[in-house]
Amino acid sequence: MKSLVLLSIVCVLFVACNNQSKTSSDASGLPIPPKDFVANAINGKALYQQHCQLCHGKEAKGSRQGPPLIHKIYEPNHHADLSFYMAVNRGVQSHHWKFGNMPAIPGVNPKQAAHIIRYIRQEQKAAGIF
Ligand code: HEC
Repeated sequence: MKSLVLLSIVCVLFVACNNQSKTSSDASGLPIPPKDFVANAINGKALYQQHCQLCHGKEAKGSRQGPPLIHKIYEPNHHADLSFYMAVNRGVQSHHWKFGNMPAIPGVNPKQAAHIIRYIRQEQKAAGIF
């Protein structure tokens, strides 16, 4: 019986620690769209302009308030799609740049985020970043 209690505690701790990890998947409770969801770059561009452009600039090339997303450090191997869902859902503590923190963007749901990611990946690809 004692070992069962101990095992439960270990499990809870394991889950709790995993939640903190930046690379944890949707298992951490991060809302992402269903696997079969088809994102669309045209929707993504409009949503980007509405919700992200203020800081990430026209065509995601950066502004005085935020970094460019069409940039080598945001290509899929460095910042997988999950880090975009994470940024939108939870905000970002400043770590790469000196613009300050990014707030969470509660007006953008996971499907809308998927459209935006599709658009950003399309532009990164067009710019020869990956
Ligand atoms: C109020 C300004 C602001 C808005 C609006 C904003 N961002 Fe950001 N974002 C930032 C800043 C500043 C950073 C850089 C933080 C740092 O220093 O690493 C950032 C970083 C990011 C990152 C990198 C995350 C990481 O793990 O390093 C992603 C992805 C991102 N933003 C996506 C978006 C998307 C998508 C939107 C629109 C839905 C958006 N941002 C809207 C300011 C903003």
